[in-house]
Amino acid sequence: AIDARNLRKDTGYLFYDQGYGNTGSCESQITYLDGDNGILRHRGYPIEQLAEQSEFVETAYLVIYGELPSPEQRKRFGTMLRENAAIDTQMMRIFDGFPRGAPPMGMLTSIVSSLAAYYPHLATNNFEKDLANFDLTAAMAISKIRTIVAGIYRYRHGLPFNYPKDVPFCDNFLHLMFSEPYKEYAAIPEVTRALNLILLLHADHEQNCSTSTVRMVGSSGANLFTSLAAGICALSGPLHGGANTAVMQMLQAIHDEGDDGTRFIAAAKSGSKANRLMGFGHAVYRNYDPRARIIGHACDVVLNKLGKTDPLLDIAKRLEHSALNDEYFLSRKLYPNVDFYSGIIMRALGIPTELFTTMFAIGRSPGWIANWKEVASNPKGRIYRPRQVYVGPVKRDYVPIGKRG
Ligand code: ACO
Repeated sequence: AIDARNLRKDTGYLFYDQGYGNTGSCESQITYLDGDNGILRHRGYPIEQLAEQSEFVETAYLVIYGELPSPEQRKRFGTMLRENAAIDTQMMRIFDGFPRGAPPMGMLTSIVSSLAAYYPHLATNNFEKDLANFDLTAAMAISKIRTIVAGIYRYRHGLPFNYPKDVPFCDNFLHLMFSEPYKEYAAIPEVTRALNLILLLHADHEQNCSTSTVRMVGSSGANLFTSLAAGICALSGPLHGGANTAVMQMLQAIHDEGDDGTRFIAAAKSGSKANRLMGFGHAVYRNYDPRARIIGHACDVVLNKLGKTDPLLDIAKRLEHSALNDEYFLSRKLYPNVDFYSGIIMRALGIPTELFTTMFAIGRSPGWIANWKEVASNPKGRIYRPRQVYVGPVKRDYVPIGKRG
């Protein structure tokens, strides 16, 4: 039998798999994803059951530690998240270095990567030492990313930072971010529930672009904070996490133009990447993204509960209906993905569009952390180092600059 790890050495063959779409880069126990049948499970638990019965912090624990927490474990995890919610006062000064309108994802990557500099004893780039502090580092990362995102919002709006409260994770987010609306929202459990749902549905998603990035950076021995910052960079692109912002911009443009979506659908069918129907299609799903189905249903419930209507939700539904009756989308098995409806809920909660991808980062942090842990804990792990198919010039001789035409 050929050992896949030594395929090239043993056989001389190198597989060319552009974008790794057909390459298993690792073994993982975290998330099962069957794109053909639209199945997503974390540690064996179907996403539908988690969305219905769990909440973000519990699912984060499950994703990171492999089991649903006991009441004692859940309490301890919640306490650690609360105790590590604040950001160092010195670190808060980083915010002031950014222009007021700096892109939130750019700010988030910089501030998260600074965690490695503020807590060097937890970010030693030595797996053994870093894993010895893993529980603390993991809780710090999830909690502080949330606090940093709220801080970015406050900074952009010229508002003073709020200090974290001794309240559950999502309530704390609403307090950190909005302070005043939080009081209004506090009476509406559906708001916290909706926020929980959005974050939970993003908790992990197998070897997507940002998670693979976290693993790749981690495989070099890099600490958790640095690996997470790299993951956030990867998330920012419009074909990945940035799609939730792009969807909202697209829906808004359809609304502003008074179009029914026909022009956007026609443009999307042109084959140009720039005109893709945002929030549609997925690198793995060839079926309805189960997360999109859950969020799609939740939109109506949340808007109803908040007594709000949103013309963009109607546009999204019409757009989905048109696309799902169009041969172009049907034949390519392009269905709404998680980003298609998530923005409608975030908008209803008062989260501005430009912050959407940072919200995705909060939600995905448990998945990144769990994947980094798998890399760091694998005694047989090796550095991620794919090969390439070289298509550049063949050998040629150096020409001194004076002799070049
Ligand atoms: N609109 C129009 N056409 C599309 C779209 C789309 N959203 N997505 C794919 N296609 C087309 C491709 O152009 C290709 O057409 P062709 O066969 O005529 O060349 C065909 O469908 C197949 O494309 P895939 O190979 O399935 O796409 P790929 O795996 O390269 O990309 C991706 C997946 C990036 C998600 C793509 O569907 C896309 O750009 N979607 C819009 C952006 C988006 O919503 N991203 C979020 C993804 S989910 C997430 O990251 C959380």
